[in-house]
Amino acid sequence: MSNRQTEGLEQTSQRGPDGSLRHLITLEGLSREELTDLLDLSQFYVRQPGELPARDQSLAGHTVANLFFEPSTRTRVSFELAARRLGADVVNLDMHSSSRVKGETVLDTIYTLQAMHADVLVMRDAEPGLPTFVAGHVQPHVSILNAGEAHLSHPTQGLLDALTIRQHKGEFGNLSVLLVGDLAHSRVARSAWHALSALGTGEVRIAGPEHLLPAANEFPGAVRFTDLNKAMKGADVIMGLRIQTERMSAAHIPDNAAYCREFGITAERLKLAKPDAIVMHPGPMNRGVEITGDVADGPQSVIQAQVTNGVAVRMAVLATIVRNAQAQRKYS
Ligand code: NCD
Repeated sequence: MSNRQTEGLEQTSQRGPDGSLRHLITLEGLSREELTDLLDLSQFYVRQPGELPARDQSLAGHTVANLFFEPSTRTRVSFELAARRLGADVVNLDMHSSSRVKGETVLDTIYTLQAMHADVLVMRDAEPGLPTFVAGHVQPHVSILNAGEAHLSHPTQGLLDALTIRQHKGEFGNLSVLLVGDLAHSRVARSAWHALSALGTGEVRIAGPEHLLPAANEFPGAVRFTDLNKAMKGADVIMGLRIQTERMSAAHIPDNAAYCREFGITAERLKLAKPDAIVMHPGPMNRGVEITGDVADGPQSVIQAQVTNGVAVRMAVLATIVRNAQAQRKYS
C-alpha cells in the first residue's frame, strides 16, 4: 500500500471531523507532537512500585468493553485496570463463550454492546482490518481501540515501548534501537517502528533469521542484520520478540535450542551492546528461546517497567480518545 493510500486510510479510519483521534487503530500517521503529547500524559499517570496507582474520573459515566478474540494477559488486564482507574464501568467479554462462536457476526456483537451504551470498544483479533471495519460501522460517539490486529498493529504497545525507552534513555535522536526476532509476524515490531520513526530515533536495527525478517520494503531505513552479534554492537536498546508460531506453518518453526544459539539474547551477547543498554520484551517470553532467564531478570532488563507503563499508556489513550469524542459531540 502506498504512503498516500495509507495516509487516506489513516485519516478516514481513526480521526473525527475535527482531525483529532477518535479511535486508535494504528500509530502510522501520528505526528511527533501527537505521540509526545500521549507519552507526556502517560508519564503523568506513571507511579513507582509501592505507590498507590494514579486515579481520576476522566471516564466517569462511560463504559469500556474488552473484546479479545485472541489470547492476552498483559494487554487485557492493563486495559481493564486503566479503565477502572479512570472511573469507567468495564465489561470483559469471554469471546470463547460469546455469540460469535454461535455464528453471530462481529457487527451484531458490536451493535449489541452499542445498544447497551458501551462508549469504547477495545478489540484484539487475528484478522487484519477488523478494527477499521468496525470503526466504519459504529455510532459517532463510540470509539475503537486496537489492542492487537493480526501481525499489523498494536498501537498501545508501541506507545508503552516508546515511553519505556524515553524514561531510561532520553532523547530518541541519539539512540540505536535493535529489534530482534520474528519481525515478519510481529505487530509489536511494526507499531514500535511507527513510533520510533516519528519520534526521530537515530538508528533502528532489525535482526533475525532471513525468513523471519520483514519484506525489504517494510521498515524503510532500518539497518538489517542476520548476524545478531554484529547487530548488538553499540546498541542502546535491545527489544526481543517472540517467535509467533501461531502465524506460521510448522515447516517454518525453528528448533528452540538452535534458535537461542544464533538469535537468543544471552548474557554473553549482551556484553557486545553499550554497557548501559536496556533489554525489553513485550511478553509473553519464551525463556531459553529468544531471551535467557538471567537476562530477562537481570539488571539491564526493563521488562517489568514496560508492564507498569502499559497501564499508564492505556489510561492516557482512554482519557484522550474520550475527551476528543466528547468535544466532537458538542460540535456535531
Ligand atoms: C504481544 C502481542 O500479543 O502482540 N504481546 C503483548 O501484547 N504484550 C506479543 C506476542 O504475543 O508475542
